[in-house]
Amino acid sequence: MRDSNGAMSRRHEKSGLTSIVAVGLDGAIGVENRLPWRLKSDLRFFKETTKQNVIIMGRKTYDSLGSCLPYRENIVLSHTPSLFPPHEGCHHVHSLSEALTLRTRWPGKSAFVIGGAQTYKQFAPFVDRYLITIVSARFPNADAFFDQGIFGDEKLWEKCPVKVDRVDDAAGDEFEFQVFELRLRDPTIASERREALIGEQRSRNHLYRSKQNGQAVRHAKPVQTLNLFA
Ligand SMILES: NC(=O)c1ccc[n+]([C@@H]2O[C@H](COP(=O)([O-])OP(=O)(O)OC[C@H]3O[C@@H](n4cnc5c(N)ncnc54)[C@H](OP(=O)(O)O)[C@@H]3O)[C@@H](O)[C@H]2O)c1
Repeated sequence: MRDSNGAMSRRHEKSGLTSIVAVGLDGAIGVENRLPWRLKSDLRFFKETTKQNVIIMGRKTYDSLGSCLPYRENIVLSHTPSLFPPHEGCHHVHSLSEALTLRTRWPGKSAFVIGGAQTYKQFAPFVDRYLITIVSARFPNADAFFDQGIFGDEKLWEKCPVKVDRVDDAAGDEFEFQVFELRLRDPTIASERREALIGEQRSRNHLYRSKQNGQAVRHAKPVQTLNLFA
């Protein structure tokens, strides 16, 4: 799927779903809503990988970033009715199915789940690829962890190392780290689950729109009355 046929691989990446995560040896990914380490090279890898693509994140990760990331389509999950007014590159959704459906608006871009812990876990059944940075240290103060149980049977996955260029600045990386790519040997398992959820979301939207249309007819009179005062 990957090396023998580059074009096929690129097509797969555009339609698939990748989770990108950095994790300590003890599974740590966060402390007090921030990263527990400073790794300039890994941040640069994250930026280069996700730029011009779609990123999906939980509201707490959005808070930790402070804003949507530029040069990407940001999809932020929250139950809050209106987290922010929609603006260029920044989209608020209320559910996984809404996130996966919105993602289909950009078929030419790759999509990445960028955290945090709750969000990685919920998207796991729909993910066919992970980019995992293993940070060679333990973080006793951590309060957010990557649940490694989400991989299920490890025989389902193919693992290979990814080369990441290190920044020259010696003070840039606080710890040693390695990056790995994990791919589902059979990505159709995840794509069929995504399609099913997107199908449900679209049929719900269809019902919702039909209902709204009905209401619009019922409210036609009051709107006309108000127009008299315009
Ligand atoms: N090491 C890494 O690679 C990495 C990457 C990203 C984040 N992190 C770390 O992870 C930590 C944050 O992770 P977290 O698990 O606490 O939070 P999170 O996954 O970033 O966000 C959780 C929030 O997302 C919203 N949400 C989640 N599932 C939803 C659903 N199905 N429908 C609607 N909204 C949903 C809810 O927002 P509302 O409460 O607004 O409803 C929920 O409180 C931080 O420490 C951060 O620094 C680490």
